[in-house]
Amino acid sequence: MDSHWKGREGLKVDMTDEALWPTISDIVEQPGRLLEAGCGTGQWVQFFVRQGHDAVGIDYAESGLNVGRKYNSSLELIQADFRKLPFADESFDYITSFGAVEHDVDGPEDALKEFYRVLKPTGQLMCSVPCLNACRTITLPWLMIKRWLKCRKMLRKICGKTLPYEFYEYMWSPREYARILRRCGFQLRDMRGYGTSGASQLSRLFRHVFGRKCRFYSDHMMMAVCRKA
Ligand SMILES: C[S@@+](CC[C@H](N)C(=O)[O-])C[C@H]1O[C@@H](n2cnc3c(N)ncnc32)[C@H](O)[C@@H]1O
Repeated sequence: MDSHWKGREGLKVDMTDEALWPTISDIVEQPGRLLEAGCGTGQWVQFFVRQGHDAVGIDYAESGLNVGRKYNSSLELIQADFRKLPFADESFDYITSFGAVEHDVDGPEDALKEFYRVLKPTGQLMCSVPCLNACRTITLPWLMIKRWLKCRKMLRKICGKTLPYEFYEYMWSPREYARILRRCGFQLRDMRGYGTSGASQLSRLFRHVFGRKCRFYSDHMMMAVCRKA
């Protein structure tokens, strides 16, 4: 993940044109103490500060944090693992985490339980992960075969890949994700899709035919809006 941010320069200032913004804009209206967990370069931290929040970002990839620090040294950006947060219990009004908790091979529970611990009883969690939408579910057998093939050492050798296959991320259906959140103590207030997966002509045709009838038909990501149960 550290290599993810290599070569990045500067921070985007206005995030209101990002597809995820409408999924959280009504939740973060009142300024408060806000944690951005897995903040990358800290672009959302800077945006939340400009919106009047007392925001802090944490990430374990120093390379991303350094991009943010170079551009805006006043930002509170801390290198830490969000499964072991350096904050007291119940210290945040808001916790945001965008496309980060799915990258732990052991599952998202350790991170979500930490978010639960540091969230105030009245606080809100907004946590997004990739969505196993209807479109992706249709192609799931093919995705699984592809992954199985990628793991074969012999095939990797034949294809000239010298490094072993590395886990990248989990993908859950909205129902599975809701179950995980509940297991970690959260009450799900809403699940909101954003972004679009599948750019092929066929995907577009399917979207046109089925998209209006089926929620989470082709949403790339889903944002869970939660409170402590
Ligand atoms: C897809 S990026 C999202 C960055 C940022 N939230 C944004 O939207 O611009 C996910 C980030 O989560 C971080 N991350 C993943 N697991 C982490 C962990 N256990 N502790 C801290 N950061 C983590 C990665 O280093 C990466 O920067």
